[in-house]
Amino acid sequence: MTEPIRAPRHPEYRMTDQAPAWRLEQADCLAALTALPAATASLVYIDPPFNTGVRRQGRSGLAFADRFDDIGAWRAFMEPRLRAAHHALAMDGSLLLHVDWRTSHHARFMLDEIFGAECFVNHLVWSYGLGGSGPRSFARKHDDILLYGRSTDYWFEAPRVPARSARLRGCTKKATDVLDIAALNNMAIERTGWPTQKPLALLDLLVRACCRPSGLVVDPTCGSGTTLVAAVRSGRRALGIDISADALSIARGRLEREAMRLTHPTAAKPRVRRQAAAVQPRLAQSA
Ligand SMILES: C[S@@+](CC[C@H](N)C(=O)[O-])C[C@H]1O[C@@H](n2cnc3c(N)ncnc32)[C@H](O)[C@@H]1O
Repeated sequence: MTEPIRAPRHPEYRMTDQAPAWRLEQADCLAALTALPAATASLVYIDPPFNTGVRRQGRSGLAFADRFDDIGAWRAFMEPRLRAAHHALAMDGSLLLHVDWRTSHHARFMLDEIFGAECFVNHLVWSYGLGGSGPRSFARKHDDILLYGRSTDYWFEAPRVPARSARLRGCTKKATDVLDIAALNNMAIERTGWPTQKPLALLDLLVRACCRPSGLVVDPTCGSGTTLVAAVRSGRRALGIDISADALSIARGRLEREAMRLTHPTAAKPRVRRQAAAVQPRLAQSA
């Protein structure tokens, strides 16, 4: 097992105002989640390897392995980690599991078993637009994000998004379970080089909706740290875990820049201004 990157141990993540805003840990998330005290997290968001069968590599050369022998092996990898996440969640907390067509049906069965079918809340569709298409199927242009409450008494604040109809132009409306948010293109300013990086606009919406203010957001496969930046930006605390030192070094850089932006808004202005523009949700649902 690898050493934690930032020294303090988990008990600091009890719900206290004194806790630091964020922390990173290099570890297999099974060990790190299991070490968390029970009922500590307000939100666990997991964006695990999708079982694509390939090494996911970005243009920068940074990569992680996404290979399992078969779907049984993927399930065997996920199940104890989902159970550990369940254990770490506060009774009013929630889990978001980000998967796609390869595994969403398996994930739903596993989560029904672990959380209880009565705790299922939403099957969100993240519709992102980018990507190719094949001649013998409809083009696959969405991921699946499963939302479960730790209990039926979970915290939730329905997000509002810009209404698109001519009648409601300039107004907002409640978001639906289809989130139309652009994927990061290769030129996006927020792109870090970590493969499979998710857009801040998506995580910003999810964190604000599913984690109470000042609650602890845990991302056990945090990659470049998108969830953690969204959490800190919206006044939540964040614990990021990843097995890859490269991923954590990117996440650390992003979080340090974010802290700089929050404490010295003018110093960080030029980059942040462009970044903020790039992460505005592009939510194109009809009202
Ligand atoms: C889909 S990526 C996450 C991307 C992230 N959401 C982002 O926006 O950058 C999956 C991550 O899982 C990590 N990972 C794979 N196996 C792991 C394990 N056993 N424990 C912790 N992290 C793991 C990989 O290193 C990779 O960063």
